Amino acid sequence: MTSNQKLINWVNEWAELCTPEKVYWCDGSEEENNRLLGEMVASGMAVKLDEKKRPGSYYFQSDPSDVARVENRTYICSAKKEDAGPTNNWADPVEMKATLKGFFKGCMKGRTMYVIPFSMGPLGSDIAHIGIEITDSPYVVANMKIMTRMGKAVLDVLGNGEFVPCIHSVGAPLEPGQEDVKWPCAPIEDKYICHFPDTNEILSYGSGYGGNALLGKKCFALRIASNMAKRQGWLAEHMLIMGITNPQGVKKYIAAAFPSACGKTNLAMLVPSIPGWKVETVGDDIAWMKFGKDGQLYAINPEAGFFGVAPFTSMDTNQNAMLSARANTIFTNTGLTPDNDIWWEGIGYDAPEGTITWTNEVYDKASGKPAAHPNARFSAPAYQCPCIDKDWENPTGVPIAAILFGGRRPGTVPLVYQSFDWNHGVFMGSIVGSEVTAAAIGLKAGVRRDPFAMLPFCGYNMGDYFGHWVSIGQNAPDKAKLPKIFNVNWFRKSAQGKFLWPGYGDNIRVLQWIFERVAGTAKADETPIGFVPQLGSINTTGIESVEANMAELLTVDKGQWKDELDLVREQYAAFGTHLPKELANQVTAIEARFEK
Ligand code: GTP
Ligand code: SPV
Ligand code: MN
Repeated sequence: MTSNQKLINWVNEWAELCTPEKVYWCDGSEEENNRLLGEMVASGMAVKLDEKKRPGSYYFQSDPSDVARVENRTYICSAKKEDAGPTNNWADPVEMKATLKGFFKGCMKGRTMYVIPFSMGPLGSDIAHIGIEITDSPYVVANMKIMTRMGKAVLDVLGNGEFVPCIHSVGAPLEPGQEDVKWPCAPIEDKYICHFPDTNEILSYGSGYGGNALLGKKCFALRIASNMAKRQGWLAEHMLIMGITNPQGVKKYIAAAFPSACGKTNLAMLVPSIPGWKVETVGDDIAWMKFGKDGQLYAINPEAGFFGVAPFTSMDTNQNAMLSARANTIFTNTGLTPDNDIWWEGIGYDAPEGTITWTNEVYDKASGKPAAHPNARFSAPAYQCPCIDKDWENPTGVPIAAILFGGRRPGTVPLVYQSFDWNHGVFMGSIVGSEVTAAAIGLKAGVRRDPFAMLPFCGYNMGDYFGHWVSIGQNAPDKAKLPKIFNVNWFRKSAQGKFLWPGYGDNIRVLQWIFERVAGTAKADETPIGFVPQLGSINTTGIESVEANMAELLTVDKGQWKDELDLVREQYAAFGTHLPKELANQVTAIEARFEK
């Protein structure tokens, strides 16, 4: 299929080490996809869902230990420890490769080694990058088919060019005669998700879960790409990209970074609750951004599908995600109904009698055990999204007018506020925090700092990453055209612990304020932390009951912010000399403004 000798040699080398039963080059065809899925159904790994209800769709249950990303088993293996920084696990690249070679030796015994050529970004466009993933998991192949552009066409574009080598194994060799399990994987202490930024390599061992195994996504498009972006002067970010059109037909695009399971998929496809406004989706998880010839920052979505959180996705909360997943979708760790459809908590109707849980037990609501794992996911093709933007595959990308940061903050942080300037906006990104979610295993409950929503995904020293953001502003071809920066918080709670803001489709009301701030018309109060909406400047027509909450939603409390800034100083101290002075200065500037 290819005459790329470097690629052929590399595949041969790994086949020799991993000793699979056979090596198979994926062509990306429908026929291949159906065949692999058929084989997984036959082996008991997958269930084919009802063809009338969910055409072309399949259901998987993972091993109970393999349900999310494993941050404590994820490593950045740069030559120098300092280059991984205080927020990443570091390992010496030479030592780690030696360790991994031990694990990979014979690890594909009794299995097929699949070779998956894939493109992050529209095939053949200047900004796209090609990777090749070697894996022994047909589940990974089927997901890569949805999440990336993959197959023979990628090899044609690659020719004799360079690719990012991605090696993956579930780490469960089969002895002759040994029966396979439904979801093969290695125990947690043998899992390794490793990145070698100096050589652009990825090695992942022991897990079949999305973020650990679909190596184009977090490993390549964020951890490796953030290194490429730093070297080359662009941005690789954990951001959704969406278009917003106002009732006058004016359209603006925004990008938004929220930590995992904090509402990117929901916001990217929101159905506006106020008449005349329209939302269109470019991407729901990752943005690659570069300046265009006109001096504007342009963003592309390097992915081709959505790997979305299933629980609490419904026709009420996210109709467009539900419709994206109506067919040709893979469901992992949801519930399964007796008529071969999926079910999860918050889907909008009761579980049919006899529904099976993600742990393969009969669902019993009274037991308190959910049918779906909280991090159950659907993998759905982006082209099936009813509100997909007409420019979602435009190789030039879309011009970004505003960047939003946010997280789950029950207190302190107002519904929305705007930065005074670029560096203050970078500060806002650097202090993003959120109550932890189910998207990663083994995190302590409570608010944790997740700067730029990139804590688990920045492939180098986070202090240098802050510096890179500062330099993007300094080196912008036209500073007046830089996106305006905002922070949002849909999750502020009352003293009684209730959400003060309705969220979901009503978030358009906050987007309207942002849209109009960018246009220069919406009213704001200047506070020590930034521009906060003037009371009455957020459109609450139709949700009058929320009006009583607006003052509390917009409060900037001096005492709470003093505590916040103490935590920020603590966070910043870890970066030592890598912390840009432009950010340290922001802390003192805010404190001074509070004292004025
Ligand atoms: P990753 O795919 O992990 O990067 O996450 P994501 O940011 O795309 O998260 P997603 O949109 O899937 O949201 C995760 C959870 O947040 C779901 O359970 C939603 O129901 C909930 N959520 C999303 N938007 C809102 C909102 O505006 N208000 C409230 N209260 N919950 C929300
Ligand atoms: C996230 O955890 O931010 C995700 C899901 O988007 S995964 O790709 O599994 O990391
Ligand atoms: Mn994500």
